[in-house]
Amino acid sequence: MSIKLSDTIPGYSNKNYPWDEIINELPMSGTLIEVGTACGLSAVTFAEKFEETGRDYTIHTIDHCVGIEIDGISYTRYQQLEYINQVVEAWDNISFTRCDFFKRYLEPPTVLFLDAAHTYQDTLNILRRMKKAEIILVDDYMPAWPGVMDAVDAFQKSTNKELTVFETAHDNIMSCAMFK
Ligand SMILES: C[S@@+](CC[C@H](N)C(=O)[O-])C[C@H]1O[C@@H](n2cnc3c(N)ncnc32)[C@H](O)[C@@H]1O
Repeated sequence: MSIKLSDTIPGYSNKNYPWDEIINELPMSGTLIEVGTACGLSAVTFAEKFEETGRDYTIHTIDHCVGIEIDGISYTRYQQLEYINQVVEAWDNISFTRCDFFKRYLEPPTVLFLDAAHTYQDTLNILRRMKKAEIILVDDYMPAWPGVMDAVDAFQKSTNKELTVFETAHDNIMSCAMFK
């Protein structure tokens, strides 16, 4: 089996993530905005899965890049940016902006993938700003992240959007909420 770029980038949304179930739910083409690039693992995995399934997407990922710890290893902002550069160089349909989400105006995309601060207020504020996205995916809708769960539940109550939760439990539990 050939090595993919996603095998070499550190990150959280690894092989145990419910990728295939999620990708199946997405339209065949559109734009995807990701808030929370980290080192680019989820962005490149979206690109690989979109290609595998014949989907045509433009992916824009943003992060303020202040350094990050993944699996007990600390990555400086410069290391993050080096990994992100590899991802952007490899895929013509991925672009990256280093910025704070709240300081930019971004047009709501076809798909929003939210994997940023995990606090109640930030999560709810981002969801409100992006409520016109056709599909909203919120990573880590699980008890370990009560801020994310509460914000997703509050958003669901206020919008009445349909909520689906994808879960995968292997060596660790991963979960993602989807609004359609
Ligand atoms: C959990 S990590 C993202 C993991 C990545 N999606 C992956 O699968 O490997 C969260 C990231 O969100 C970024 N972040 C948090 N709040 C942000 C904001 N307001 N604007 C931009 N980036 C933000 C952090 O810098 C961090 O890199």
